Amino acid sequence: MDSKMKPAGSMTVTYDGKSSEFPVFEGADGPRVVDIRSFYKETGAFTFDPGFTSTASCESQITFIDGDEGVLLYRGIPIDDLADNSDFLEVAYLLIHGELPKANELERFDHAITNHTMVHEQLKNFYSGFRRDAHPMAIMVGVVGALSAFYHDSTDINDPKQRTIAIHRMIAKMPTIAAMAYKYSIGQPFVFPSNNLDYTSNFMRMCFAVPAEDYEVNPTLCDALDKIFILHMDHEQNASTSTVRLAGSSGANPFACIAAGIASLWGPAHGGANEAALNMLAEIGSVDRIPEFVTRAKDKNDPFRLMGFGHRVYKNYDPRAKVMQKACHEVLDAIGIKNDPLLEVAMELEKIALEDEYFVQKKLYPNIDFYSGITLKALGFPTEMFTVLFALARTVGWIAQWSEMIEDPGQKIGRPRQIYTGATKREYVPCGDR
Ligand code: SDX
Repeated sequence: MDSKMKPAGSMTVTYDGKSSEFPVFEGADGPRVVDIRSFYKETGAFTFDPGFTSTASCESQITFIDGDEGVLLYRGIPIDDLADNSDFLEVAYLLIHGELPKANELERFDHAITNHTMVHEQLKNFYSGFRRDAHPMAIMVGVVGALSAFYHDSTDINDPKQRTIAIHRMIAKMPTIAAMAYKYSIGQPFVFPSNNLDYTSNFMRMCFAVPAEDYEVNPTLCDALDKIFILHMDHEQNASTSTVRLAGSSGANPFACIAAGIASLWGPAHGGANEAALNMLAEIGSVDRIPEFVTRAKDKNDPFRLMGFGHRVYKNYDPRAKVMQKACHEVLDAIGIKNDPLLEVAMELEKIALEDEYFVQKKLYPNIDFYSGITLKALGFPTEMFTVLFALARTVGWIAQWSEMIEDPGQKIGRPRQIYTGATKREYVPCGDR
């Protein structure tokens, strides 16, 4: 990836009688950046930004978010246009290659992915090492991390051909591995992928088919899940994507980097929020208990937060939440669920929170995780599988961002510094004298 940053003047930092000037660059859209790569050399001080609230960690051309306007673009195309008109593999191609595929390009990509959907037969042995009640995200971290032990022929990150095979393998095998984690948790036999089904239908069949009877794909439900996957595919430099980039910056193989991303996504502040949001709605239980929980969410002494609300970047509605809400109603209508109590609580909670001064002042809006839990539950997935589905979709963004980083000529190993406030140098004291 060649840099497309454009010079936009400079910024002067003056301290202790010395002034240092740093170049400013602008991108295609969004905030400008001040290049502080020489800051320590020039000033002798580090910058300090735990949580990276004001730090751009890289240049990227994949996803753009405008948090104030609630805008999300994949390679410049609005997320709702893609959710309404595209499908999983076409959007995966867009994120990886930068353009929507022509018919022959999509056919080749589809063929490449479809022919990598099976996993090595011995990979199955990893599952039997877990308890049946193991959280499927624990299984995902373990099994995906083990892939590099099976696919040595695609771990040389300096070989573009091997990188391409690794990208295809990751995208192709995640549904198979995720479905196997689900089947293992319910004690049912694994279902092999079926190459004559599209990506999401194949995943649904691997999850819900049983050997004892034929499985009929439900196009409405598969379309809804496909849309949900598109919404979750990438999101700029979020915690798990930054984890993948940092792991990859050391030259670690792509399978290990994706396993690191899965581990980071698991956290309830990040991808684990969809599972936590549904559990929260179930805990609230009824509309009349909402005020009690809204009060708790505002109480600084109470660690409780409204799961599915708030976002580091979006200080407006998460554009994905609107598409998610629409998909939620489509799925419930398709299944014939008229009065889902959790949806009733969710809609009332959303209404109350959006009118509450605390949430308005702190610009806390529903995020993608607020409605996804209800929808995934209606599709038949247990709560523990929600973040696995998020990881399945986000694998496309992770691998696209990893690939962009590897191809960046300016790429270096990520190695942040710190401000040290611990003990200064002191003598060792023998145990008897302590
Ligand atoms: C995802 O980064 C991404 O792009 C992530 C993601 C992706 O696609 O990769 O979009 C996916 O992770 C969505 C977010 C899912 N997480 C949740 O829904 C968990 C609940 N939300 C919060 O934990 C929180 O909003 C975060 C973690 C999402 C964002 O936290 P920030 O940006 O660090 O903001 P903050 O914690 O400093 O909160 C700012 C203020 C605080 O109050 P003050 O200290 O200023 O008084 O808002 C409050 C917080 O207490 N606040 C909440 C709240 N979220 C923030 N109060 C109540 N309920 C909440 N949900």
